[in-house]
Amino acid sequence: MIVTLDGPAGAGKSTTARALAARLGWCYLDTGAMYRTVALVALEHGLPLDDGPRLAALVESLVIRFCQGRVFVGDRDVSDAIRTEEVTQATRPVADAPAVREAMKHLQRRLAEGLDLVTEGRDQGSEVFPAAELKVFLTASPEERARRRHREELARGSTGSLDAVLAAQARRDEGDRNRPVGAMRPAFDAVVFETDGLAPDEVLARLVELVDARRPREARP
Ligand code: C5P
Repeated sequence: MIVTLDGPAGAGKSTTARALAARLGWCYLDTGAMYRTVALVALEHGLPLDDGPRLAALVESLVIRFCQGRVFVGDRDVSDAIRTEEVTQATRPVADAPAVREAMKHLQRRLAEGLDLVTEGRDQGSEVFPAAELKVFLTASPEERARRRHREELARGSTGSLDAVLAAQARRDEGDRNRPVGAMRPAFDAVVFETDGLAPDEVLARLVELVDARRPREARP
């Protein structure tokens, strides 16, 4: 069974998807990490970040694996290297190339074959797994998302204001909604789950209920 989790930045998708997969004992596909990995290797090989066909060929040549919460290319653990600011910046043009998205779609489908899987990323319900048994669009009001992000940033030692976080988030939302390919939008049959005022374990409990309701009776705990 496949569960997809999409939604805007700051809605807690990654943490929630990871926790849901762990609770269910299922695999977890971090598709953002896959795009980041392609960008990292492209930077290392000096590939132009606007050369879609060469980047797509790179996607096809890479062996990306997830193991115990870490990301590997072949045998190399790239989990930390893909989180640098340089890679974050490079990932955007890579993820905007239609040829890359097409190659990634096939790779993600291959990785999912035969698995019970929670997969997270902007296009998972709408493009990559249109037949997923459960599609969730996780969201929260802009204010709530900005408050959560601001709290995280303060905890990391930042001194930026909540207003600055809110403004940056509005710009990012606008960009994400208007991306020419892989734009953020809920699949038409997604469950839109608004998490304002809910604690992470309340969100998780509700998701487990949604999964159980969609599971074949014999597969329910
Ligand atoms: O979620 P994360 O920050 O790791 O995503 C890295 C980049 O990849 C972001 O620019 C995000 O928009 C993009 N992405 C994407 N499609 C996905 C997952 C992530 O375009 N399915």
